[in-house]
Amino acid sequence: MARVLVGVTGGIAAYKACELVRLLVKGGHEVVPLVTPGAERFVRAETFFALARLSPSDDLYVHLTRADLLVVAPLTANTLAKLAHGEADNLVAEAALAHRGPVLLAPAMNPRMWAHPATQANVEAVRSRGAAIVGPGEGETAEGEWGLGRMAEPEQIYARCRELLGETDSLAGREVLVSAGGTREPLDAVRFLGNRSSGRMGVALAEVSRRRGADVTLLAANLTVPPPPGVEVVETPTAEAMLEAALARRGADLVLMAAAVADYRPVERVDAKRPKDERTWQVELEPTHDVLQSLGERRTNGQVLVGFAAETGPDGLARAREKLSRKRVDLVVYNDVARADIGFDSDENEVVLVTASGERRIEKAPKDRIAATIVDTAEELLRERA
Ligand code: CTP
Repeated sequence: MARVLVGVTGGIAAYKACELVRLLVKGGHEVVPLVTPGAERFVRAETFFALARLSPSDDLYVHLTRADLLVVAPLTANTLAKLAHGEADNLVAEAALAHRGPVLLAPAMNPRMWAHPATQANVEAVRSRGAAIVGPGEGETAEGEWGLGRMAEPEQIYARCRELLGETDSLAGREVLVSAGGTREPLDAVRFLGNRSSGRMGVALAEVSRRRGADVTLLAANLTVPPPPGVEVVETPTAEAMLEAALARRGADLVLMAAAVADYRPVERVDAKRPKDERTWQVELEPTHDVLQSLGERRTNGQVLVGFAAETGPDGLARAREKLSRKRVDLVVYNDVARADIGFDSDENEVVLVTASGERRIEKAPKDRIAATIVDTAEELLRERA
């Protein structure tokens, strides 16, 4: 589920924005309506809040909410001019200045206003800064003129929203199992052996898969980031819990094992808190079961298994390649965790995708973009298996 700011400015097409909000909500998105006073001359803000299943907000800064997409429908010539010039004297214009991410504009105005060079220059200005424009279409306007100026239909605007949010149906009907985070192996009631994985990469993979229509289960090992909405979350704090949950879902079409699963756990687990004393504490560790390898041994036809190799040092890539065959997986995503600028607590990553047919380096990028590339490759492998 993405969060979408829906700006509604003053035009008769505001009534069609109701349908857009309904479609977005039905598609599982969180909608924050931003209704200008001009729009309220046509449709009351309460209508949009009701359709968005929200109570009207008294939050003064609701328009500054961080969101995945800003869509303005209808966009008047006036607000378009404000956006083009970076003005900020209405909710929508302010939101547009503060928003970082895709912007979709659905202009609606009188055809002569649309054709005016001033309007066209403003369209070019916002387009050159990356805004996507949908419509306007040709037809009869509310004031009885014919020409280009009608707002695009809500279904068409919604389809562009989905594209900009990276939503497709390419994984519709597919079960995707993702693991994320790092397991913690208890030493006693309060202490554990853990690792530095935040879960960001796995959460990004779960989110991308869901946006492509998959049924996603997320095996969550002590995440430090919130899981994405719209996925089933199973808490798997230890390697043992992760193994059990993964084997119960071993029929998944695609498995993305991004979690850092402990390779060892304490042999002896003390139920109470071990009191401190002056002696040394010797802990004996035993190997855990390898979850990915266990899935690899039981793999079913057509299934695609993806493993991750967090390595350090110059021969890391060679070890990643070796994991491909040892764990019987289709893709190993290698990253060098010795680098401080990527990996563990970072929002960015740089990886090499290792498959039987070769290697592909993905340059440093935000984890959600890396996740999209990994899922693209996994989808290619799924198609090959079919
Ligand atoms: N993995 C797993 N179960 C484990 C350990 C690891 O499923 N008990 C998975 C991880 O989720 C990851 C992949 O195996 O997808 C690679 O994990 P890593 O620890 O890098 O590899 P190991 O097989 O433990 O190899 P080594 O530590 O010897 O390099």
